[in-house]
Amino acid sequence: MAKKLRTLIAANWKMHGDMSWVFKPADFAGLYHADSRKHLDVLICPPATLLGSMLDPEQTGVLLGGQDCHAETSGAHTGKISAEMLKDAGASYVIVGHSECRAAGDTDADVNAKAKAAARAGIIPIICVGETEAERNKGKAQAVVSAQIKASLPKLKDYVIAYEPVWAIGTGKTATPDDVDEMHNAIREQVGAKVRILYGGSVKPANAESLLALKNVNGALIGGAGLEMESLAEIAKAAPQP
Ligand code: PGA
Repeated sequence: MAKKLRTLIAANWKMHGDMSWVFKPADFAGLYHADSRKHLDVLICPPATLLGSMLDPEQTGVLLGGQDCHAETSGAHTGKISAEMLKDAGASYVIVGHSECRAAGDTDADVNAKAKAAARAGIIPIICVGETEAERNKGKAQAVVSAQIKASLPKLKDYVIAYEPVWAIGTGKTATPDDVDEMHNAIREQVGAKVRILYGGSVKPANAESLLALKNVNGALIGGAGLEMESLAEIAKAAPQP
């Protein structure tokens, strides 16, 4: 059942990229292969400065997203970007509650409000959750993630969960397929059959296939390996056929 959901391969460029990274159609060519568009969504979340200059998703099939948003529509919030602004610039998704934003102060309540704002704007929030290494070592990983989901998730029709163990982000350490399987099965119980659950944390071409093959892994959120179109294309190729 769960594997009938479309696979979502999402690249988060974080604070990387300038106008020279804005693609020509040829650069996007490898992100889909054969008829993978039928079951696969490739999403790029560039810095907001580049969003409006990226190729039109209607033409390339490569979707665009923001990396964070403010909960309000507009106002005196210097340096912030609303979900409506992201949508206006071409985004159809936005990442909220990334551990780097949580580490900088975002609480579950903030993430909840941002996810709600995304829905208000008509874009899909990717709500990130994940335990720290200390929490995992204490045997609390599932309890932490379950509590984060409960508190960060408003009542929404359409959303994506990204499970990203904090200790696996940007470290080269990946959770084992067994750990990922166990956590994703628990998240599936909590969110139901229709929600896509992504894994994130040092996903790369070498480990993508074994992670994406797991029953309740419906895609990946990729940092470092998503900065190069070739490695992103290889990860996208590892998406299982339905
Ligand atoms: P990474 O980042 O792939 O570089 O570990 C993942 C993320 O931050 O979403």
